[in-house]
Amino acid sequence: MCGIIGFTGGRNAAGVLLDGLAELEYRGYDSAGISCFTRENGIDTVKTVGKVANLRACLPPGLTSSCGIGHTRWATHGGVSQTNAHPHTCGRVTLIHNGIIENYLALREELAQTGRTPVSQTDSEIAAMLIDSLYDGDARAAIRAAAARLEGAYAFCILFADQPGTIWCIRRGSPLVACHCEAGSIIASDMVALLRYSKDYFVLEENQIARLTPDGISLTGPDGMPAFPDYQTVTWDVSSAQKNGFKHYMEKEIHEQPEALSRTITPRILKYQENGSVFTLPDFSADCIPDSVFRDLTRIVITACGTAMHAGMMGKILFERLLRIPVTVDIASEFRYQDPILDKNTLVITVSQSGETADTLAALRLARSAGGRTLSIVNVKGSSIARESEHVFYTHAGPEIAVASTKAYTAQLAAFYLIAFRAAFACGRLSAAECSARAEGLLSMIPSIHRILEMKEITEKISRHLTRASDLFFIGRGMDYALSCEGSIKLKEISYIHSEAYAAGELKHGTLSLITADVPVIALATQHDVLSKMVSNIKEVRARGAFVILVTAADAVIEESQYDYRIDLPSMDDWFAPFAAAVILQLIAYHTSYLRGLDVDQPRNLAKSVTVE
Ligand code: F6R
Repeated sequence: MCGIIGFTGGRNAAGVLLDGLAELEYRGYDSAGISCFTRENGIDTVKTVGKVANLRACLPPGLTSSCGIGHTRWATHGGVSQTNAHPHTCGRVTLIHNGIIENYLALREELAQTGRTPVSQTDSEIAAMLIDSLYDGDARAAIRAAAARLEGAYAFCILFADQPGTIWCIRRGSPLVACHCEAGSIIASDMVALLRYSKDYFVLEENQIARLTPDGISLTGPDGMPAFPDYQTVTWDVSSAQKNGFKHYMEKEIHEQPEALSRTITPRILKYQENGSVFTLPDFSADCIPDSVFRDLTRIVITACGTAMHAGMMGKILFERLLRIPVTVDIASEFRYQDPILDKNTLVITVSQSGETADTLAALRLARSAGGRTLSIVNVKGSSIARESEHVFYTHAGPEIAVASTKAYTAQLAAFYLIAFRAAFACGRLSAAECSARAEGLLSMIPSIHRILEMKEITEKISRHLTRASDLFFIGRGMDYALSCEGSIKLKEISYIHSEAYAAGELKHGTLSLITADVPVIALATQHDVLSKMVSNIKEVRARGAFVILVTAADAVIEESQYDYRIDLPSMDDWFAPFAAAVILQLIAYHTSYLRGLDVDQPRNLAKSVTVE
């Protein structure tokens, strides 16, 4: 939610900020702005409603500066307007903010006594007012004192009018990464904005204060003592975060799935010899996840949001089948306000692409404080969830820029399969030979994804039909129901067509009344154990006139009269069918959005990284 960037150094700051904001735009794109120190005016601010391209078009051509801050917004407090766009200025303070200040109303009233009146409806402007009220020339002291008064989450980049060339930053609960490199000093919400300048970066620790000058970055801890950055190196390059000839990031990311799966799975399946036999077993030694994490468990709780939670639904099925212990899947925003009963025999698994989702992070913190064991499945290295979890399983999907998650989802599925196999082996529920066979099945699923990616013609044809719909349903049973939930969110978030996922057997308990000839049904029937039941459910919707799109196993016998389109999966073990079927649903969602002329990568009202509650 909101992308922020600050730069001070030897290049034109406006250019660096605009390029960085374009990379960060997936985090929010309703308005954008920059503030730069200029020789003529002190600090110049330009802001506009709409995307970064609008901002670029509004900038005065001669704007030269070597230091500035920039913001791309996802509105929380106050509507989308130029006034509410960041940066916000109060007195000598100009700032950009990512997060939510929960006590801003009380602070606003208090600051009114000092004659400060906000011009916007934002919580962020109140933070600028507060820092200004506390500033007497000592920026660090003012920021520290303001931090003590602010409740909520924030990452700030702050310019003080009397300190040209310097940017001050602090964060709590919202991400900031930084680097000092040949170009100067840069700080941003996400590494993707730094990548064209440096592959080395560090994560600003919670409550640390950073001071950026062209010559370097100095840090102080909450105790006021100097702190030192812990630099890391990204393993991917700038091209991973670009479109590389595809029309959209989403299309590119769908096509990257074979590599993303291979990077996530292959290094974790190792050969192992016992009594003259060779086994291929999931092995998490390199992840520092010992088998003891999985032993003596009485329960597993999976908690996440959106697509990541749908991956968790598949995880539940796998764990229950293999470990025979109860598993619950909770939406993180619900879990965090329940009073969960957890103990040292409960494993809480949080799942997050960004590693910054506020509700998932809060759920993780709650799990730790309530005494559960914690393991997180995370894509972004060094993110808050990764750093706060006892154990981390990184998915190596690479940067995911499109708001709709695709390769991160299938990589999360892969993580669950690997973890379930290893846990079952560690607990003696699968023998080495059985575990080995499962792991090999997982590996051999990867090439089948290439075959799915060739299904452009059929998925596009289906999408052409769907563009006319205003409501549709996804139905399935078991794994296919978990997948229906994912197919449904993918389609609705980028095509704006209302869609629902339903457990196929449940329709007749009320929802069947919504099925008419105008309501297409995407029926997933990839699991042979429930195939005959699914066929009955398909007949039920067909009898009500539904237009049926069937995704099924190549050998499934289903009368042609029961569907309008049929997509057959490449022949594979049912256990791994969700990977192939997921990619089909992603392609259908992608083409539907594109054919409707919508913004595929940046759908309305959404943002990629949800760092607010
Ligand atoms: C949908 C989507 C979202 C995210 C959710 C959690 O395509 O991407 O539903 O899955 O916001 O985000 P992360 O995984 O970053 O915690």
